Amino acid sequence: MADILEIKDLTKIYKEAQGEICVLNNISFSVGEGQYVVFIGPSGSGKTTLLNLIALLDKATKGEIIFKGKDITKIKENAAAKLRLSEMGFVFQFDALLPEFTVLENVLMPALIAGKKAKTRAKYLLEKFGIWQLASKFPPSLSGGEKQRAALARALINKPVLLLADEPTGNLDTQRKEQIFKDFAQTAKEEGTTILMVTHDVHAAAYADRCYKIENGTIQKI
Ligand SMILES: Nc1ncnc2c1ncn2[C@@H]1O[C@H](COP(=O)(O)OP(=O)(O)O)[C@@H](O)[C@H]1O
Ligand SMILES: [Mg+2]
Repeated sequence: MADILEIKDLTKIYKEAQGEICVLNNISFSVGEGQYVVFIGPSGSGKTTLLNLIALLDKATKGEIIFKGKDITKIKENAAAKLRLSEMGFVFQFDALLPEFTVLENVLMPALIAGKKAKTRAKYLLEKFGIWQLASKFPPSLSGGEKQRAALARALINKPVLLLADEPTGNLDTQRKEQIFKDFAQTAKEEGTTILMVTHDVHAAAYADRCYKIENGTIQKI
């Protein structure tokens, strides 16, 4: 299996008035195509920082991020924006759906921005996650789990190579969490999407192909 993402000696140091904080200290790992990898760590362990670096929303202090064979750490901002839109999908703790648009319109939004027609795919994804009947509803009328499934459908609309998920189950109850973890596993398998999920929930490990503990600036396979 080809590696889609290779992280080499990734380091992030924040410079604060009180001194330097080394959030990520020489982290290295690689991820194969279609793998579902979970990083579990407590609050403040650098999970969001790691995803932001990979999404090029923040700059690494040191290290390489090799995506599809190319180091992307030095590409320009407009190239980074294009890469995010066409190759990456994002799911956050809070669904970030736009309340004044329907579920279907929300799911179609990234396709619209990319200039693609995707109604068939939107229907396919909403059916797959069991919420097609909610397509014309507005997000505030959905449950937390339904919203996160809609957010997942939206993240997948442009067929991203890489899906980055930042505590996507952070505000769900146990049963809904399990469902979301399963949805991610199914996505990796059926769509061939490579998934990096960060969470503080140890239950996520059961569904992942690989799992790391992230703590004190380092990662360790568990
Ligand atoms: N922009 C920033 N400037 C300074 N420190 C930051 C910044 N962003 C995050 N940090 C610090 O880096 C550490 C890791 O943060 P974060 O990646 O958000 O952790 P997590 O997502 O695991 O809760 C925390 O101590 C946080 O305070
Ligand atoms: Mg975070």
